[in-house]
Amino acid sequence: MCRAYADPKGTAVDCTCGRGKDTLWLARHCGRVYSFDIQEEALKSTEELLDANEIDCRERSGSQKVILIKDSHKNIKKYVKDRPCLILFNLGYLPGGDKQITTVAETTIRALKDALDLLAQDGLISIIMYPGHCSGALEKEAVLKWSRTLDPGIYHCVYADMINQKKDAPQILWITKKA
Ligand SMILES: C[S@@+](CC[C@H](N)C(=O)[O-])C[C@H]1O[C@@H](n2cnc3c(N)ncnc32)[C@H](O)[C@@H]1O
Repeated sequence: MCRAYADPKGTAVDCTCGRGKDTLWLARHCGRVYSFDIQEEALKSTEELLDANEIDCRERSGSQKVILIKDSHKNIKKYVKDRPCLILFNLGYLPGGDKQITTVAETTIRALKDALDLLAQDGLISIIMYPGHCSGALEKEAVLKWSRTLDPGIYHCVYADMINQKKDAPQILWITKKA
């Protein structure tokens, strides 16, 4: 799904960089990537992964491929001034990290609203949700409730559940913007 929306000349945003796999994928398929996380450990992991793949994320000339931002995605508009073709939210906690530090519904929805404003026409927001832990289940319900209220004339929301996987497997919500 994301591949069809990635523009080699366009901007993309990873709202939860974690260990950096999604950021690396975006860097390979899009022109410039803004990558957020609130944890130093996540940014360090992402930087190491990008370095290992020879992708420039160091702040030198301002022309680096990936801009790593240690801040909450709720401040996305403070940093992203252009119109991203693709915005990713992989919710939950840092794999192999502190499970107490996780995305939370209120902040996630605030960030999603701003991300929708910024999103380019015909762009995509992809949200991976983890209902297998308590706050993840609440967050999923809140995100779905909010997405049901979006103007059907402007947005298409597609919700996917992996029905042959274990109960509480990750679920995906895609939001596209028509106008
Ligand atoms: C499931 S992980 C992301 C996995 C990542 N995409 C990858 O490829 O490894 C979720 C991340 O969200 C981060 N996070 C939690 N709250 C956040 C917030 N308000 N703003 C930005 N990142 C946040 C966590 O620190 C954690 O690293």
